[in-house]
Amino acid sequence: MEKILIKGGKALHGQVEVMGAKNAALGIIPATILAGGYCSIKNVPDISDIRNYISIMEKLGAVVSYSGDRLDIDTTFVDPANAGLIDEEATNMRASYYLLGALLARFGTVRIAFPGGCDIGARPIDFHIEGFQALGATVIGENSDYIEIHADRLIGCNIDFAFASVGATINIMLAAVTAEGETVINNAAREPHVEDIANYLNCCGALITGAGTSQIRITGVKSLHAADYSIVPDQITAGTYMICAAATKGDVTVTRIIPEHLGIIAEKLIQMGCDVLFGDDYVRVIGNRPLKAINLETMPYPGFPTDLQQPMGVLMCLAEGDSIIDENIFENRFRYLEELNKMGAKTRYEGSRAYISGVASLKSDRIHSTDLRAGAAMLIAGLAAEGTTEITDLQHIDRGYDRIVEKLLALGSDIVRINEGQ
Ligand code: EPZ
Repeated sequence: MEKILIKGGKALHGQVEVMGAKNAALGIIPATILAGGYCSIKNVPDISDIRNYISIMEKLGAVVSYSGDRLDIDTTFVDPANAGLIDEEATNMRASYYLLGALLARFGTVRIAFPGGCDIGARPIDFHIEGFQALGATVIGENSDYIEIHADRLIGCNIDFAFASVGATINIMLAAVTAEGETVINNAAREPHVEDIANYLNCCGALITGAGTSQIRITGVKSLHAADYSIVPDQITAGTYMICAAATKGDVTVTRIIPEHLGIIAEKLIQMGCDVLFGDDYVRVIGNRPLKAINLETMPYPGFPTDLQQPMGVLMCLAEGDSIIDENIFENRFRYLEELNKMGAKTRYEGSRAYISGVASLKSDRIHSTDLRAGAAMLIAGLAAEGTTEITDLQHIDRGYDRIVEKLLALGSDIVRINEGQ
């Protein structure tokens, strides 16, 4: 079994570079289906979700090569009939649902296994289905193990989301780029990766305006063409390293970032007593004072991102005073607190609210990751704890953090990944 061992208590120092955003790449890779040709995508993070998506695309008929951070993909010969070959990969991740919008827009038909993803809530896709139906598609078996959608033609319309769903916004954008007429998405998600996927589609000849705001307008075009692209830096990974600096009372500069994506994270770290200094494409976090308790509520962008709630929860365990977290996006995103309580944290949660009373320090223990972002929280807890912490279930961490052990080692942590019992 693979484990990460961290001898905690060392302040992190130095620079760390952020790669392309996982959740942008996981939308752009299926979006290349709409390009129907050869695209070169740069700044693609080397994580297992990307490799899983490469396997999906190759089974669908794409020709893919991936070297360094560059992914070259030719989707000329993608065939929706091959979607029956990707059941395992599709159920391994949530982002497989983008194949619905992409294959529907190019071929008018798609049948894939129901998407999987982190166990952080029910994660239905009713907003996606309702959006496809509004565009004129017929959806079959939406509640079984497969989703099948057909449309002789897609006709642009107004779509009002009850919730600013990231996935549904992206999926409807993918379907609407070749629909007849105009589609307007109201209450659209505004996350940086939504905007990045729209930018890529526009490079391929789509006509999308308003991405990054809560109203996105898409004027359908006959078809798209291939284009090269470089993916936006990962806001969540950048925030994770900022929190690592704060948790270890270190001094870390996170490079290749977009400052405006990190404003709310900086605001919360400053409230807790950190110094945060921005440059054009970097942010420096210095944790040189005792951490102060704060209250936190997760919201759609530009609110505090739910994907950083768990890393922030660790920081709040180390703060002086009582903190509260309101998790407004997912209904089951607090299980990591039970692992932190094993390390001496004083936390409890009821429904969507968690209560955290800061302690002087966390004690090392054997802990495991319950999901991708909880995995990051476990790493941060190990970095801050006294003694050597052992972390298992690394497959969750591998899904979203590109070479994180090497990067934390380079920042001065005492961390190693071992494979016991081999
Ligand atoms: C995306 O998930 C991300 N995943 C998540 O990141 C991220 O936490 C989330 O957006 C919010 O920012 C990918 O991009 C692959 P939503 P998604 O649709 O699309 C409910 C990570 O760690 N909902 O905005 O699933 C849903 O259950 C992952 O990188 C419906 O009810 O998020 C949730 O409670 C974890 N019906 C809320 O809306 C729907 O049809 C937000 O979901 C769709 C969503």
